Amino acid sequence: MEEMRVLLRNSGKIDPRNAKEYIKAGGYEGMKKALSMSGSKIINELHEAGLRGRGGAGFPTWRKLKFAYDADGDIKYIVCNADEGEPGTNKDRILLSTDPCSVFEGMIIAGKAVDSHVGFIYLRAEYSYLVPILEAALESSRSAGCLGKNIMGSGFDFDIKLRLGAGAYVCGEETALFESIEGKRGEPRFRPPFPGIKGLFGKPTVLNNVETLANIAVIFQRGAEWFSKIGTPNSPGTKLFTVCGNVKRRGVFEFPMGVNLKELIYDVCGGMEEGHTLLAVQTGGASGAIINADQIDMTLDIDAVSESGGRLGCGTILVMDDRNCIVDIVRNNLDFFRGESCGKCTPCREGGTRLYQLISKIAEGKGTISDLRTIEDLANTMRLTALCGLGHSTAVPVLSSIRNFYPTYLHHIDKDKCNVCM
Ligand SMILES: Cc1cc2nc3c(=O)[nH]c(=O)nc-3n(C[C@H](O)[C@H](O)[C@H](O)COP(=O)(O)O)c2cc1C
Ligand code: SF4
Repeated sequence: MEEMRVLLRNSGKIDPRNAKEYIKAGGYEGMKKALSMSGSKIINELHEAGLRGRGGAGFPTWRKLKFAYDADGDIKYIVCNADEGEPGTNKDRILLSTDPCSVFEGMIIAGKAVDSHVGFIYLRAEYSYLVPILEAALESSRSAGCLGKNIMGSGFDFDIKLRLGAGAYVCGEETALFESIEGKRGEPRFRPPFPGIKGLFGKPTVLNNVETLANIAVIFQRGAEWFSKIGTPNSPGTKLFTVCGNVKRRGVFEFPMGVNLKELIYDVCGGMEEGHTLLAVQTGGASGAIINADQIDMTLDIDAVSESGGRLGCGTILVMDDRNCIVDIVRNNLDFFRGESCGKCTPCREGGTRLYQLISKIAEGKGTISDLRTIEDLANTMRLTALCGLGHSTAVPVLSSIRNFYPTYLHHIDKDKCNVCM
């Protein structure tokens, strides 16, 4: 199966620091087109393209821009979410390190749409080594007249600033990210008001994932009609998938939305390592659902994965073979989530730790069937009552693994024997 390299078209082919090379490859042409359009026309083009967010929730991008476009405000902001905190995910890093100008281009187009003149890139602390590349790409874009004052003689001003996180997963959540940029402790805010009305520094804000913004540039370079024909009707475009775990060939791959998960694992990634069989797949990173080997004949698009009880999320696919135990994997997930909980709301602060304790009890062969019921109750309570997505997602691997690997849990309870867990 051949990759379709739309977002990765320049990867490894141009110097990411040099805007002139991006321009030579057709870059900033989409921005040029957008600079001659009104805000509402730009938003309409995105509506026709059907682009949905690539950061996790799959929200229609045009709608976000429309909220900020309609909002009153002397200052509006465009924020690029480059926190990429989902365990195992590398796609935004690839885009930023090989073709950062495509992300800047998307930000400028979004800025023109909502009449914003300032953008921020919020980069995760672990990616601080990308700062010199990004600074050089920003400076060369300014020198080429594609960023800063009076872009391409259009009279439109837009500039981009970099901000570094401090290593908290929760700061990828949009409102916690705003708090962090504002210099406060990174905790999610209560909503409403939503960011389109009151976001960064209390101003109307559009926040998008790195990959979403790179797609905006592509849509204006190649046209909404072209874009809307790639992928599936409800999830057009390509998607970057990070495949990690026990496959022969791991990495970031670009395919049209709607690619089949089984083909991705066996045709693209070469299947399982020698002498091992597939046990499970977790789609969407640590916060995604865990499915068993019989369920992998699945279409990877935003709605199809949701309908099967999971989430495509940022497109991370963790493949696990028979050397793993699901109870142990879930214990690991919970250890991550309880550590990253910001502690602001009780269901997540207390529930995450309690879930970890109960799953550990089962992993150690000391659990009972009543513990399993308590785990399900607790996970459902977190799903329904936690303040932000971190608390909601903690429940996803727990509930999906119980649903899809019930005999494995019973085995730990009845036979209290597992070579991996113990
Ligand atoms: C705990 C948590 C962590 C998140 N981390 C990220 C992240 O690292 N990158 C990202 O783009 N979105 C992340 N999100 C989703 C963002 O809140 C937001 O929905 C997304 O960036 C919106 O961009 P999009 O519309 O382009 O997808 C996270 C959400 C939660 C709840
Ligand atoms: S769900 Fe967790 S991370 Fe989110 S606000 Fe509550 S305590 Fe913080």
